[in-house]
Amino acid sequence: MKKIGIIGAMELEVEALKAKMEIHRTEIKASMEFQEGTLQGTEVVIVRSGIGKVNAALCTQILCDMFEVSHIINTGVAGSLKNEIDIGDIVVSTDALHHDVDVRVFGYPLGEVPQVGCLAFQADERLGQLAASCCKEVNPDISVYQGRIVSGDQFISDKKVKDAIINNFQGFCVEMEGASIAHAAYLNHIPFVIIRAISDKADDSAEMDYPAFEKAAAAHSAALVEHMLPLI
Ligand code: ADE
Repeated sequence: MKKIGIIGAMELEVEALKAKMEIHRTEIKASMEFQEGTLQGTEVVIVRSGIGKVNAALCTQILCDMFEVSHIINTGVAGSLKNEIDIGDIVVSTDALHHDVDVRVFGYPLGEVPQVGCLAFQADERLGQLAASCCKEVNPDISVYQGRIVSGDQFISDKKVKDAIINNFQGFCVEMEGASIAHAAYLNHIPFVIIRAISDKADDSAEMDYPAFEKAAAAHSAALVEHMLPLI
């Protein structure tokens, strides 16, 4: 049966979805509140994971073990890594990787976690296409891009750091959870997609832009998730 796990790192990334769902059960695990019920007629479990890769991985594993979700969607905001991807636009993952992993000393490519067997975790193609096509309907005024999302336990707000991440990984946007969700979903054989709206440009302007745009960006992403649920 179809049951969609929806993860947002911060409350503002999931609050609109939680407000609209019909809640059947609430469970606390690892200090995270999992709300199970229906949204748009679809079985969902919605949770705020907390920020960063450890929280995101824990949260994903709990969705797999305790709730036996069939699919995972990560909704939220991110910093743009491409000039043409503007604040408010949406990036839908084709794949995701950890930009802060470095075991090159033992021959692994930068970003690859040893012994996992891949550098980047492939998002589900059907979920990705669905998100991109729904975005054009739900948010007709903004652009949607499909590409690589890169994650690390760092808020990127320095042009030099941003440029190094772009050169190393060719990402479309950067955030702090997606690769961990992708990694955990991959290990559990659960299809996933990451949907991120741009809140800042991940450079020296990010400190000012992020607080100004995070709410509107988070709302774009959540609206898209809501719209695509019945079509999964
Ligand atoms: N989430 C939103 N903007 C970000 C940035 N610049 N770096 C990391 N995570 C982010």
